[in-house]
Amino acid sequence: MARLLAALLTGLAALAASTAARAVPLPEIVAPAVGPRCVLPAEQMRREHMELLRHQRARTVRQGIRGERFSLRLCIACHAGRDERGQPVSVAAPGQFCESCHRYAAVRIDCFQCHSGRPDPEAEAAARRIAGELAAGR
Ligand code: HEC
Ligand code: HEC
Ligand code: HEC
Repeated sequence: MARLLAALLTGLAALAASTAARAVPLPEIVAPAVGPRCVLPAEQMRREHMELLRHQRARTVRQGIRGERFSLRLCIACHAGRDERGQPVSVAAPGQFCESCHRYAAVRIDCFQCHSGRPDPEAEAAARRIAGELAAGR
């Protein structure tokens, strides 16, 4: 009886797992507004962006050095989407770049309590300049 129950439970667990795997959609990652390239290869950004932001934060706060390409304001300037009226939408809003992927990965970040998730004009200008440099391979 115990063995039968165990087998039944194993079967149920496998069924639940396969159903869950099929039911969970992959995140649809919002295309960046400013391209064509990220500040590092996308594969590396996927794995290392948290480290980059953490180190950059520590450097800025402790030494006042701004490694401009890795500034949070620039991530936002390139990655914030627009609504149907062309107004910028926060990267932290539901379905937007940072939020959609973090929701999928069940990651919570508190950054946007203090930092704005919308681009500011100065950062947008810097983002366009850096996009040009990246496109030229610099
Ligand atoms: C309690 C408020 C607060 C929270 C929460 C917070 N920050 Fe900051 N952060 C600041 C302040 C203040 C500065 C320094 C002023 C500036 O440079 O904008 C700063 C600077 C930075 C910088 C360097 C400036 C820039 O634009 O790159 C980075 C990077 C950064 N924070 C990343 C983060 C990340 C990532 C998180 C979430 C994990 C976070 N911060 C959460 C207040 C906060
Ligand atoms: C100059 C514009 C620009 C800046 C600045 C920028 N990105 Fe990107 N990012 C892009 C573009 C364009 C892509 C997609 C194309 C590519 O590089 O493959 C991308 C891709 C990514 C990806 C991979 C997304 C995926 O499809 O899996 C992540 C994660 C990412 N960026 C995070 C960041 C973070 C975090 C910052 C700030 C430290 C940042 N980006 C700064 C333009 C930018
Ligand atoms: C391709 C998916 C993806 C995108 C897009 C993405 N993230 Fe992440 N992010 C992750 C994953 C996965 C983790 C957790 C990694 C871990 O725990 O090792 C993470 C973790 C973080 C962390 C560290 C959280 C902590 O508590 O340690 C920060 C900060 C962060 N992301 C900022 C951002 C910002 C800002 C953006 C948008 C500009 C962004 N991420 C876009 C997948 C993504």
